[in-house]
Amino acid sequence: MPKVASLVWKNDHLELIDQTKLPLSFEVVQCTTYKEVADAIRTMKVRGAPAIGATAAFGVALGALELRAVPWAEFLSGMDKVFAELAATRPTAVNLFWALERMGKVVEDGKGIAPVNAVVDALVDEAELIAQEDIDTCHRIGEVGASVISSGAGVLTICNAGALATVDYGTALGVIRAAHSQGKDFHVYTPETRPFLQGSRLTAWELLEEGIPTTLITDSMAGCLMQAGKVQVVIVGADRIAANGDTANKIGTYAFSVLAKYHGIPFYVAAPLSTVDRGIASGRQIPIEERPAGEVTHICGHQIAPTGINVYNPAFDVTPAGLISGIITEAGMIVPPFGLHLEQAFASK
Ligand code: MRU
Repeated sequence: MPKVASLVWKNDHLELIDQTKLPLSFEVVQCTTYKEVADAIRTMKVRGAPAIGATAAFGVALGALELRAVPWAEFLSGMDKVFAELAATRPTAVNLFWALERMGKVVEDGKGIAPVNAVVDALVDEAELIAQEDIDTCHRIGEVGASVISSGAGVLTICNAGALATVDYGTALGVIRAAHSQGKDFHVYTPETRPFLQGSRLTAWELLEEGIPTTLITDSMAGCLMQAGKVQVVIVGADRIAANGDTANKIGTYAFSVLAKYHGIPFYVAAPLSTVDRGIASGRQIPIEERPAGEVTHICGHQIAPTGINVYNPAFDVTPAGLISGIITEAGMIVPPFGLHLEQAFASK
């Protein structure tokens, strides 16, 4: 079992590991209001698509608890503000909107039938359910995907798709954890993942905590490792998967998928079905978040570029479905053609 859980609900508040502080210090932040939750997502104290979704669900629960004692009309207008603020935090990870939709349905179902405080209780229950389902889903993804890692393999991942990026266990790192717990002997290459350094700060930390052998590299070293025959499989997470299988994930993922194709290395995406956005046909429709210039011009507060330089800082890129060997989900390994097989996976849910 991993030694970290990114978020824990404590009856009336949410505890989050402050991921901006890792690996130098392990700090837990307490969110007692939905505004604190929105701020934690916006500032990336909590990040990673499934973790953002579950956190937002608890944000809705906290917003509802703040409105527990008001009449229905006031509750509804107050909740509109809660949903709007949480929805505006980060645009790319669809799990955020998926979780808000689930929470919104609880409000809809109770409207005019149940007393406000019963709906508030139901919202807390739904958030807890979303969190528990995420843990179960990640374990299932691990079981489904472990076979893509053989003993002796070099495994390349990117960013952090681990326990920190989910409620627990992880997606890409869930697969790695499952293969490790099966006694397989393999090696993970962890790219630092500029500019926000989720690889060096979070994945390297998580794998060290778990005792899984890993080597930190800079992002630009992936190609030469593949050329040298040191990478047998690439496994990444996802922030949003379009209906045709095109996948948005951390910036740099696309480059790794092209490199993998050139070197004949299988490239897998590990993600829950809640990361699939069936409402969009292809990756061209995925909104890509652009983040502040300071993330590129500075490293840990230290300026590394001239003042006033133009900066482009997209947080994600899109890997076309044609470069993906398989999508590892809780419903099994989805193989091309992804459009058809993703629909079948939803139909059999
Ligand atoms: O900007 P981040 O750190 O939220 O981006 C996270 C990623 O890109 C992850 O790979 C993705 O969310 C999958 S997490 C299981």
